[in-house]
Amino acid sequence: MKIDILTLFPEMFSPLNSSILKRAVDNGILEFNVINIRDFSLDKHKKCDDYPFGGGAGMLMSVQPLYDAIKSVKDENSKIVFPSPRGKVFNQGKAKELSKYNHLIFVCGHYEGVDERIFQLFDMEEISIGDYVLTGGELPSMVIIDCLSRFVDGVISKESLESESFENGLLEYPQYTRPAEFMGLSVPDVLLSGNHQEVDKWRREQSLRKTANTRSDLLDE
Ligand code: ADE
Repeated sequence: MKIDILTLFPEMFSPLNSSILKRAVDNGILEFNVINIRDFSLDKHKKCDDYPFGGGAGMLMSVQPLYDAIKSVKDENSKIVFPSPRGKVFNQGKAKELSKYNHLIFVCGHYEGVDERIFQLFDMEEISIGDYVLTGGELPSMVIIDCLSRFVDGVISKESLESESFENGLLEYPQYTRPAEFMGLSVPDVLLSGNHQEVDKWRREQSLRKTANTRSDLLDE
């Protein structure tokens, strides 16, 4: 999968170059291209923002540099994502859906927003990562990219995806590793019993308990 990221702040994307995502890039499963929108500005000072018509607080991103930047990477199969608090809230289902595309383009807004005409010129899906406002689309893009990448074949094991939070509508059960005892705290006996049926039952109960305590809204669904 190829992911193009259009931003005024390319330096914010260095986290994509570590850990699991780096391994996926090294293995040729993912390709990230971080592109500076400023390189497309036709203004002699490479300006990419301006005051909003009608007045109001702050600056808006101008339409021209954005338009040319998107044009430079888009083809007929590209899916364009525009992170924004105006969008539907992101979840695992949306991550799985996005992981099926061969080419994604993330357009990062900054400042008070973008000239609305960019949404008339391109079909872009606005996606929010939660009901709060960040300084720009860079961190949300990274959140969405990190999450959807896990569903791209070969990035992590299928087994890891199956046993995690939300997969069965529940939060994940507690896990333990060696040592079996630390500072007087023991691992639950059932996990050391070797009885897989009992282990599965215990995990299911723990998942239900955790979900009921912290996210009872998931049980209602
Ligand atoms: N840009 C600013 N805030 C955001 C949010 N909550 N989600 C997605 N993009 C954003």
